Amino acid sequence: MRFSENSLFVAPTPVKLAEELAGWFYSQVFNHSNASKQYYIALSGGTTPVLFFNYLASYYGNYIDWSRIHFFWADERCVSPDDNDSNYKTAYVNFLSKINIPASQVHRIRGEEDPEQEAERYAQEIRSVVPEEDNIPRFDLILLGMGSDGHTASLFPHQSELLSSEKLVETSENPVTHQRRITLTPRLINNAAKVVFQVTGFAKAGIVGEILQQKPESAQYSASKIKPLRGDLYWFIDAGAAKELFR
Ligand code: 6PG
Repeated sequence: MRFSENSLFVAPTPVKLAEELAGWFYSQVFNHSNASKQYYIALSGGTTPVLFFNYLASYYGNYIDWSRIHFFWADERCVSPDDNDSNYKTAYVNFLSKINIPASQVHRIRGEEDPEQEAERYAQEIRSVVPEEDNIPRFDLILLGMGSDGHTASLFPHQSELLSSEKLVETSENPVTHQRRITLTPRLINNAAKVVFQVTGFAKAGIVGEILQQKPESAQYSASKIKPLRGDLYWFIDAGAAKELFR
């Protein structure tokens, strides 16, 4: 894994962070050298990406050739796509409904289906669309968030069997709400070319600090297990989440 100080972006506010991440995203897909390259990108769930989604659609929506981009999700709640808890719905309302992307290139996790069967199906869909490297699909970019307990995607604390899973997609459960989830595994995530964490808020500063300073206690958090094997890791954080970084 390559992580250096030029992979850390700190912005003063969540809005400024969204602007910075949207500009960075644009720079990643505006590929001069290969106009036909397709990009395979997995989106984060949760609420943090909402500002980024809206900014990307509003300011770059008309400048990106979305016909070259395939969107997947890092995880999904086992709810229907019109449920307010759905990560797909969050992305659709704030982003996908505002850009001109072929529906066939939006690969949602079907939260309304049986979790175990959908995890299998989604893994197959990823394998059939995303080019492989070392026999594992290699996303160009995976966007992740982090919970205040240090989880990422739907890899929650004390579910260590998920962290070592040989599968590409697993089912899990939110330990607080007991909501069923479907999630990409570290095996798949760590095969990506680029992985980006977007984290905001003082409540997450302690864990962000432990992970970025690679403190021993950070090993308990699934977010610390995200270490792209042959790729780059980026952290986009706001001043609140950076509070413990420079202590
Ligand atoms: C989800 C996410 C999860 C999220 C973190 C942060 O489905 O909830 O994938 O990993 O990114 O919990 O959530 P917030 O952005 O809402 O703080």
